Amino acid sequence: MDAKAAIERLQIGQKPEWPSNSESFDFAQSLDNSDHILKTFRSDFIVPTKAQLKRKTINDDAETSKAASGPEDESIYFCGNSLGLQPHAIQEYLSAYLKTWGSIAVGGHFTQISDSPLTAYQDMAGDCAMKMAPIVGASASEVVAMNTLTINLHLMMAAFYKPTPKKHKIMCEWRPFPSDYYAIESQIEWHGLDPSKSMLLVEPDDGYLITTSKILNLIEQEAESLALILLPGIQYYSGQLLDIPTITAHAHKHNITIGWDLAHAAGNVELKLHDWDVDFACWCTYKYMNAGAGAIAGTFVHSKHGNNEHYTGLKGWYGHDKSSRFLMDNKFVPTPGAQGFQCSNPSIVDLTCLSGALSVFEKTSMAELRRKSLLLTAYAEHLLTSIAARNIRDGKFPFEIITPADPTQRGTQLSVLLQEELMEDVSKALEGNGVICDKRKPGIIRVAPVPLYNTFGDVWRFMKIFENAIKSQMVEVTGNVEAQAML
Ligand SMILES: Cc1ncc(COP(=O)(O)O)c(C=O)c1O
Repeated sequence: MDAKAAIERLQIGQKPEWPSNSESFDFAQSLDNSDHILKTFRSDFIVPTKAQLKRKTINDDAETSKAASGPEDESIYFCGNSLGLQPHAIQEYLSAYLKTWGSIAVGGHFTQISDSPLTAYQDMAGDCAMKMAPIVGASASEVVAMNTLTINLHLMMAAFYKPTPKKHKIMCEWRPFPSDYYAIESQIEWHGLDPSKSMLLVEPDDGYLITTSKILNLIEQEAESLALILLPGIQYYSGQLLDIPTITAHAHKHNITIGWDLAHAAGNVELKLHDWDVDFACWCTYKYMNAGAGAIAGTFVHSKHGNNEHYTGLKGWYGHDKSSRFLMDNKFVPTPGAQGFQCSNPSIVDLTCLSGALSVFEKTSMAELRRKSLLLTAYAEHLLTSIAARNIRDGKFPFEIITPADPTQRGTQLSVLLQEELMEDVSKALEGNGVICDKRKPGIIRVAPVPLYNTFGDVWRFMKIFENAIKSQMVEVTGNVEAQAML
């Protein structure tokens, strides 16, 4: 297969032509070895072994200390949409931090140790902003590493949501992640308004997906009443990637401020937040940026909003300009740009983890990662489609993929909606075979092959386990002898 041509087709929303041997392991391996596809950074990550997934004590025993002798001993980790794998760099960066704290103590705030991967603590948030900026298509002064995602959504709404009696609505999607829903609802309440009147949900056209035209029409209809639009770059449940530049431009045409929750988009798809003229955006760093559970989050504020003082009204000493922060004269001089939104001094443990995780991204680019991701996800989709066609039961497919079929409208994630009665047994079979992916009741399995550390071989192995799980469930439910024979 011509991998380069296949990727080019995917980039313009077309499907590749898969060769007749595409369902063989040799074919998956040939893609992993192709010169036209970004080589894996798997060795930069800790991929748990199947034995390690069963760990019960923090001390290693014979099983947990054993290194994988080959990919068959490793787990198949398709859960980077929830928590990215641990980069090896994190241990190195954390040891450097502990050594710095344990030797020069408070001196770490202003002193850079010459051979340390860390900057002085005072510069670490700026350093992380510099490393995150190319990932989201921004300049470093438009990005800040601070707090966590929901808190940052609150801060941005405190800054940008200024309702008036006429213009008071916040537009969001029909099924926001609960934390986004609560944040929007409570911001409305904070202004003494009624969420049932001021929250405008965009419903899907049918099923799970929302067309761009639906969003644009609603903006048009509600332009007089909309104070703010807050949408997800990628919808967490369906995996749909919204058309951020088109929707942003349309909001601005109607003089409406627009922000994006990029929890599932940052580090996953290419973003050009500055060029797209996005007002603000927030993301977490524990999913595709691999900085660890609950890690410090990222926020973008467009440079056109410049000096933030009049936007937040919520000041803290770390929002004060760095050059005079320690004069302690209580005359607030905001740091221009996104970093002026900081309040407290940030956790250096958090910034250390983020800095270590971002060091892996410095070895490549989002453009390269996206190229590989398009093909990895298309390969997963191709194998899933064949499995569905081979396992029709009572005239029905055992599952459907609810993520858009158009590769330009999705990231790595495919959301697979199983027939409800299959969910429990398929989940058990996946777990029993060392597969980690995210399950949401009643029947959604989210499968996210991440280009930094997942391989085409992982996709192939996953599909074997998944198909066997479906077939064995069919045997159980129907006593289907034909299915039994295929196991
Ligand atoms: C879309 C979305 N919004 C908000 C959150 C909540 O993030 P946090 O707990 O870091 O505030 C998540 C967490 O996964 C998410 O996926």
